[in-house]
Amino acid sequence: MKTYSIALIPGDGIGRDVTDAAWAVLQAVANGEGFALEGNEFPWSCAYYKETGRMMPEDGIETLRKFDAILLGAVGWPAQVPDSVSLHGLLLPIRKAFVQYANIRPHRLLPGVQGPLRAEKFDILCIRENTEGEYSGAGGRVHQGTADEVAVETSIFTRAGVERILRFGFEQARTRSGRLASVTKSNAQKYSMVFWDEITRELSAEYPDVTVSSYHIDAMAARMVMAPESLDVVVASNLFGDILTDLGAAIQGGLGFAASANINPTGAAPSMFEPVHGSAPDIAALGIANPLAAIWSGAMMLDHLGEAEAAARILAAMEATTARGIGTIHGKDRTEAITNGVIAALS
Ligand code: IPM
Ligand code: MN
Repeated sequence: MKTYSIALIPGDGIGRDVTDAAWAVLQAVANGEGFALEGNEFPWSCAYYKETGRMMPEDGIETLRKFDAILLGAVGWPAQVPDSVSLHGLLLPIRKAFVQYANIRPHRLLPGVQGPLRAEKFDILCIRENTEGEYSGAGGRVHQGTADEVAVETSIFTRAGVERILRFGFEQARTRSGRLASVTKSNAQKYSMVFWDEITRELSAEYPDVTVSSYHIDAMAARMVMAPESLDVVVASNLFGDILTDLGAAIQGGLGFAASANINPTGAAPSMFEPVHGSAPDIAALGIANPLAAIWSGAMMLDHLGEAEAAARILAAMEATTARGIGTIHGKDRTEAITNGVIAALS
């Protein structure tokens, strides 16, 4: 039997609740589809940091490299460990080390979910650059604590990095409606963002079947609210994509529905799948976290592993569940009830 080895990193807060839920659904679907998922759990988290002084061991990346994929819950417990330490110790290094340059975030209203907009249909696929740009990590501080203090944080845009994410966007647009929206702020940022727009134009010649439009980030934010039906695939830099995908999550009914895949499209290193919501320490272990974002992320993992049919079955089961009003309203249904609803709908 085909067996996939999966690294499980529940992480912090509700990461535990939702990873368990997603794993239960994944196991249920694997049973029916004739493949196996072998999970190996790692306790890397803020609690681990408190014990060891590290978010993951020194050889953490090498340990993860052997797996077919990584399923992650959430990272961060700011009351215990500053986010600037925890996220730079666990989540962000994995995205970079494994060159997971394409962060795919589907924003879609599930049946029965009432979003804040009047729009009945909302279906956008955001593609976020995930390894460079505003998250390059290049910078520093000098004269700390004095009146002369300086902080510099440099965005880095490379031709290779911009080209590969745009290509990924064009390819995704091809599999959908053939419309791609590229997001920059080239009216204000005259180097990096003009560069991005130029590469967009260059590549568009190679994709005559894709209609590409360029928008500024501020106008895109307004468009997502005012005319979401005019959008299909949206491609943006790391920070712009981060911001737009919280907006997308809000429009799809909340962060409890927003799934994501950090993909290395070459397959040279494992990809990582995680819900967009954070660790929500205030509701950790109460059993009320919505697991749908994590379950959806799990479905994206199966799709990436080549189990498209199993992934589609999870999506259909999620839709059947929300259509019955289960998991549609924040805090109404328990994590377990939603998970069991999805598992029951699989068969
Ligand atoms: C996300 C998160 C992370 C990001 C944080 C936690 C560093 O907001 O995945 O959207 O900005 O990438
Ligand atoms: Mn975010």
